[in-house]
Amino acid sequence: MNLTLKIWRQKGPQEKGQMVEYKVTDISEHMSFLEMMDVLNESLVAKNEVPIAFDHDCREGICGMCSLHINGEAHGPDRGITTCQLHMRTFKDGDTIYIEPWRAKAFPVIKDLIVDRTAFERIQQAGGYISVNTSGNTQDANAIPISKRNADLSMDAAACIGCGACVASCKNSSAMLFVSAKVSQFALLPQGKIEAADRVRNMVKQMDEEGFGNCTNTGACEVECPKGISLENIARMNREYLKASII
Ligand code: SF4
Ligand code: FES
Repeated sequence: MNLTLKIWRQKGPQEKGQMVEYKVTDISEHMSFLEMMDVLNESLVAKNEVPIAFDHDCREGICGMCSLHINGEAHGPDRGITTCQLHMRTFKDGDTIYIEPWRAKAFPVIKDLIVDRTAFERIQQAGGYISVNTSGNTQDANAIPISKRNADLSMDAAACIGCGACVASCKNSSAMLFVSAKVSQFALLPQGKIEAADRVRNMVKQMDEEGFGNCTNTGACEVECPKGISLENIARMNREYLKASII
Protein backbone atom coordinates (compact mmCIF):
# COMPACT_ATOMS: atom_id res chain seq x y z
CA MET A 1 0.00 0.00 0.00
CA ASN A 2 1.06 3.56 -0.66
CA LEU A 3 -0.34 6.06 1.82
CA THR A 4 -0.37 9.75 2.59
CA LEU A 5 0.02 10.57 6.28
CA LYS A 6 -0.89 13.91 7.80
CA ILE A 7 0.82 13.95 11.18
CA TRP A 8 0.82 16.47 14.04
CA ARG A 9 4.35 17.77 14.62
CA GLN A 10 5.14 19.87 17.67
CA LYS A 11 8.70 20.45 18.89
CA GLY A 12 7.81 20.98 22.55
CA PRO A 13 5.06 21.85 25.03
CA GLN A 14 5.31 25.60 24.38
CA GLU A 15 5.81 25.38 20.61
CA LYS A 16 3.10 25.85 18.03
CA GLY A 17 2.27 22.57 16.28
CA GLN A 18 1.07 21.84 12.76
CA MET A 19 -0.01 18.98 10.52
CA VAL A 20 2.83 17.82 8.24
CA GLU A 21 2.36 15.56 5.21
CA TYR A 22 4.44 12.43 4.65
CA LYS A 23 4.28 9.64 2.05
CA VAL A 24 4.94 5.98 2.87
CA THR A 25 5.25 3.29 0.21
CA ASP A 26 5.18 -0.53 0.10
CA ILE A 27 3.31 -0.86 3.41
CA SER A 28 2.16 -4.44 4.01
CA GLU A 29 -1.44 -4.98 5.09
CA HIS A 30 -0.04 -7.36 7.74
CA MET A 31 1.91 -4.61 9.50
CA SER A 32 0.60 -3.09 12.67
CA PHE A 33 -0.10 0.64 12.66
CA LEU A 34 2.95 1.26 14.84
CA GLU A 35 5.16 -0.82 12.52
CA MET A 36 4.02 1.47 9.71
CA MET A 37 5.07 4.43 11.90
CA ASP A 38 8.45 2.70 12.44
CA VAL A 39 8.91 2.44 8.65
CA LEU A 40 8.21 6.16 8.33
CA ASN A 41 10.63 7.00 11.16
CA GLU A 42 13.40 4.86 9.65
CA SER A 43 13.01 6.75 6.37
CA LEU A 44 13.15 10.10 8.23
CA VAL A 45 16.30 9.07 10.11
CA ALA A 46 17.89 7.95 6.80
CA LYS A 47 17.26 11.48 5.49
CA ASN A 48 18.72 13.07 8.64
CA GLU A 49 15.28 14.34 9.64
CA VAL A 50 13.88 14.22 13.18
CA PRO A 51 11.71 11.09 13.67
CA ILE A 52 8.14 11.43 14.91
CA ALA A 53 7.79 11.01 18.67
CA PHE A 54 4.98 8.66 19.70
CA ASP A 55 4.28 6.62 22.83
CA HIS A 56 4.41 2.82 22.88
CA ASP A 57 5.67 0.01 25.10
CA CYS A 58 4.11 -3.46 25.15
CA ARG A 59 2.63 -3.34 21.63
CA GLU A 60 0.08 -5.98 22.66
CA GLY A 61 -2.79 -4.00 24.16
CA ILE A 62 -1.69 -4.19 27.79
CA CYS A 63 0.25 -1.11 28.88
CA GLY A 64 -2.00 1.69 27.61
CA MET A 65 0.93 3.75 26.31
CA CYS A 66 0.00 3.94 22.63
CA SER A 67 -2.34 6.86 22.24
CA LEU A 68 -3.03 8.04 18.74
CA HIS A 69 -6.06 9.81 17.39
CA ILE A 70 -6.37 8.29 13.92
CA ASN A 71 -8.78 9.82 11.42
CA GLY A 72 -10.56 11.52 14.30
CA GLU A 73 -11.01 8.40 16.44
CA ALA A 74 -9.06 7.38 19.53
CA HIS A 75 -7.08 4.21 18.67
CA GLY A 76 -8.39 4.37 15.09
CA PRO A 77 -11.46 3.02 13.32
CA ASP A 78 -11.61 -0.53 14.78
CA ARG A 79 -13.43 -1.25 18.05
CA GLY A 80 -12.11 -2.95 21.19
CA ILE A 81 -8.43 -2.57 20.35
CA THR A 82 -5.54 -0.22 21.09
CA THR A 83 -3.49 1.60 18.45
CA CYS A 84 -0.75 -1.04 18.68
CA GLN A 85 -3.30 -3.76 17.84
CA LEU A 86 -4.59 -1.91 14.78
CA HIS A 87 -3.50 -3.49 11.50
CA MET A 88 -2.87 -1.79 8.20
CA ARG A 89 -5.41 -4.06 6.50
CA THR A 90 -8.00 -1.69 7.99
CA PHE A 91 -6.87 0.88 5.40
CA LYS A 92 -6.81 0.92 1.60
CA ASP A 93 -4.08 1.69 -0.90
CA GLY A 94 -4.07 5.43 -1.62
CA ASP A 95 -5.72 6.41 1.69
CA THR A 96 -4.88 9.62 3.50
CA ILE A 97 -4.58 9.05 7.26
CA TYR A 98 -4.72 11.85 9.83
CA ILE A 99 -2.69 11.14 12.98
CA GLU A 100 -2.92 13.41 16.02
CA PRO A 101 -2.17 13.26 19.76
CA TRP A 102 -4.93 13.05 22.39
CA ARG A 103 -6.51 16.49 22.65
CA ALA A 104 -7.36 17.54 26.22
CA LYS A 105 -6.31 20.39 28.50
CA ALA A 106 -5.32 17.90 31.21
CA PHE A 107 -3.13 15.98 28.70
CA PRO A 108 -0.72 18.66 27.38
CA VAL A 109 1.42 17.74 24.37
CA ILE A 110 5.05 17.00 25.28
CA LYS A 111 6.27 16.43 21.73
CA ASP A 112 4.60 15.48 18.43
CA LEU A 113 2.15 12.67 19.32
CA ILE A 114 3.19 12.24 22.96
CA VAL A 115 1.02 13.77 25.68
CA ASP A 116 1.59 14.06 29.41
CA ARG A 117 -0.82 11.65 31.15
CA THR A 118 0.60 11.97 34.65
CA ALA A 119 -2.76 13.47 35.69
CA PHE A 120 -4.03 9.85 35.68
CA GLU A 121 -1.16 8.82 37.95
CA ARG A 122 -2.05 11.55 40.44
CA ILE A 123 -5.70 10.43 40.44
CA GLN A 124 -4.55 6.86 41.16
CA GLN A 125 -2.29 8.07 43.96
CA ALA A 126 -5.27 9.89 45.50
CA GLY A 127 -7.12 6.64 46.20
CA GLY A 128 -6.56 3.83 43.70
CA TYR A 129 -5.26 1.35 46.24
CA ILE A 130 -6.24 -0.67 49.31
CA SER A 131 -4.33 -0.79 52.58
CA VAL A 132 -3.93 -4.44 53.60
CA ASN A 133 -1.42 -5.83 56.04
CA THR A 134 0.37 -8.55 54.08
CA SER A 135 3.28 -9.01 56.45
CA GLY A 136 2.98 -12.62 57.58
CA ASN A 137 -0.77 -12.80 58.24
CA THR A 138 -2.19 -12.80 54.73
CA GLN A 139 -5.66 -14.29 54.60
CA ASP A 140 -6.40 -17.15 52.26
CA ALA A 141 -8.11 -15.66 49.21
CA ASN A 142 -10.97 -18.15 49.46
CA ALA A 143 -11.73 -17.20 53.09
CA ILE A 144 -13.75 -14.17 51.96
CA PRO A 145 -16.83 -15.16 49.94
CA ILE A 146 -17.42 -12.92 46.92
CA SER A 147 -20.32 -13.42 44.54
CA LYS A 148 -19.40 -14.50 41.02
CA ARG A 149 -21.27 -11.50 39.61
CA ASN A 150 -19.33 -8.98 41.70
CA ALA A 151 -16.03 -10.73 41.00
CA ASP A 152 -16.74 -10.57 37.26
CA LEU A 153 -17.79 -6.90 37.37
CA SER A 154 -14.71 -6.01 39.39
CA MET A 155 -12.44 -7.83 36.93
CA ASP A 156 -14.17 -6.08 34.02
CA ALA A 157 -13.48 -2.69 35.64
CA ALA A 158 -9.89 -3.69 36.38
CA ALA A 159 -9.35 -4.23 32.64
CA CYS A 160 -8.88 -0.46 32.25
CA ILE A 161 -5.31 0.17 31.04
CA GLY A 162 -5.30 3.93 31.68
CA CYS A 163 -4.78 4.82 28.02
CA GLY A 164 -6.87 7.99 28.12
CA ALA A 165 -8.92 7.28 24.98
CA CYS A 166 -12.06 8.01 27.01
CA VAL A 167 -10.82 11.54 27.74
CA ALA A 168 -9.71 12.08 24.14
CA SER A 169 -13.11 10.96 22.80
CA CYS A 170 -15.20 13.07 25.15
CA LYS A 171 -16.35 16.49 23.98
CA ASN A 172 -15.87 17.67 27.59
CA SER A 173 -12.51 15.87 28.05
CA SER A 174 -14.06 14.08 31.02
CA ALA A 175 -12.10 11.37 32.83
CA MET A 176 -15.20 9.85 34.43
CA LEU A 177 -14.93 6.47 32.68
CA PHE A 178 -11.32 6.00 33.78
CA VAL A 179 -11.90 7.13 37.37
CA SER A 180 -15.12 5.14 37.67
CA ALA A 181 -13.32 1.97 36.54
CA LYS A 182 -10.66 2.50 39.18
CA VAL A 183 -13.28 3.19 41.87
CA SER A 184 -15.49 0.26 40.80
CA GLN A 185 -12.82 -2.43 40.83
CA PHE A 186 -12.51 -1.86 44.60
CA ALA A 187 -16.09 -0.83 45.41
CA LEU A 188 -17.34 -4.25 44.28
CA LEU A 189 -15.04 -6.22 46.60
CA PRO A 190 -15.05 -6.50 50.42
CA GLN A 191 -11.36 -5.55 50.49
CA GLY A 192 -12.25 -2.20 48.95
CA LYS A 193 -15.03 -1.28 51.38
CA ILE A 194 -12.79 -0.04 54.20
CA GLU A 195 -11.48 3.06 52.40
CA ALA A 196 -14.41 3.34 49.97
CA ALA A 197 -15.69 6.77 51.08
CA ASP A 198 -12.26 8.42 51.18
CA ARG A 199 -11.28 6.77 47.91
CA VAL A 200 -14.15 8.12 45.83
CA ARG A 201 -14.02 11.56 47.45
CA ASN A 202 -10.27 11.93 46.95
CA MET A 203 -10.15 10.54 43.43
CA VAL A 204 -13.01 12.75 42.23
CA LYS A 205 -11.42 15.78 43.92
CA GLN A 206 -8.10 15.08 42.18
CA MET A 207 -9.88 14.52 38.85
CA ASP A 208 -11.50 17.97 39.14
CA GLU A 209 -8.22 19.62 40.17
CA GLU A 210 -6.47 18.19 37.11
CA GLY A 211 -8.83 20.09 34.81
CA PHE A 212 -10.87 17.26 33.30
CA GLY A 213 -14.38 18.25 32.19
CA ASN A 214 -17.73 17.08 33.48
CA CYS A 215 -19.66 14.05 32.24
CA THR A 216 -22.78 14.83 30.21
CA ASN A 217 -23.69 11.19 29.44
CA THR A 218 -22.76 11.33 25.75
CA GLY A 219 -21.22 7.85 25.88
CA ALA A 220 -18.39 8.43 23.36
CA CYS A 221 -15.93 7.17 25.99
CA GLU A 222 -17.59 3.76 26.16
CA VAL A 223 -17.63 3.46 22.36
CA GLU A 224 -13.93 4.26 21.95
CA CYS A 225 -12.62 2.45 25.04
CA PRO A 226 -10.36 -0.41 23.86
CA LYS A 227 -11.20 -2.49 26.93
CA GLY A 228 -15.00 -2.24 26.82
CA ILE A 229 -15.29 -0.38 30.13
CA SER A 230 -19.02 0.13 30.66
CA LEU A 231 -20.85 3.36 31.48
CA GLU A 232 -22.39 1.39 34.37
CA ASN A 233 -19.15 2.12 36.20
CA ILE A 234 -19.91 5.86 36.07
CA ALA A 235 -23.35 5.21 37.58
CA ARG A 236 -21.70 3.09 40.29
CA MET A 237 -19.14 5.81 41.03
CA ASN A 238 -21.90 8.42 41.31
CA ARG A 239 -23.70 6.17 43.83
CA GLU A 240 -20.45 5.69 45.77
CA TYR A 241 -19.88 9.46 45.76
CA LEU A 242 -23.40 10.17 46.99
CA LYS A 243 -23.03 7.60 49.79
CA ALA A 244 -19.67 9.13 50.77
CA SER A 245 -21.18 12.63 50.82
CA ILE A 246 -23.86 11.76 53.37
CA ILE A 247 -21.74 9.71 55.77
S1 SF4 B 1 -11.65 3.55 30.61
FE1 SF4 B 1 -11.03 2.63 28.63
S2 SF4 B 1 -10.43 4.38 27.37
FE2 SF4 B 1 -10.44 5.10 29.49
S3 SF4 B 1 -8.36 4.85 30.24
FE3 SF4 B 1 -9.47 2.96 30.79
S4 SF4 B 1 -9.08 1.57 29.06
FE4 SF4 B 1 -8.53 3.62 28.31
S1 FES C 1 1.78 -0.20 23.28
FE1 FES C 1 0.98 -1.11 25.11
S2 FES C 1 -1.19 -1.00 24.80
FE2 FES C 1 -0.36 -0.28 22.91
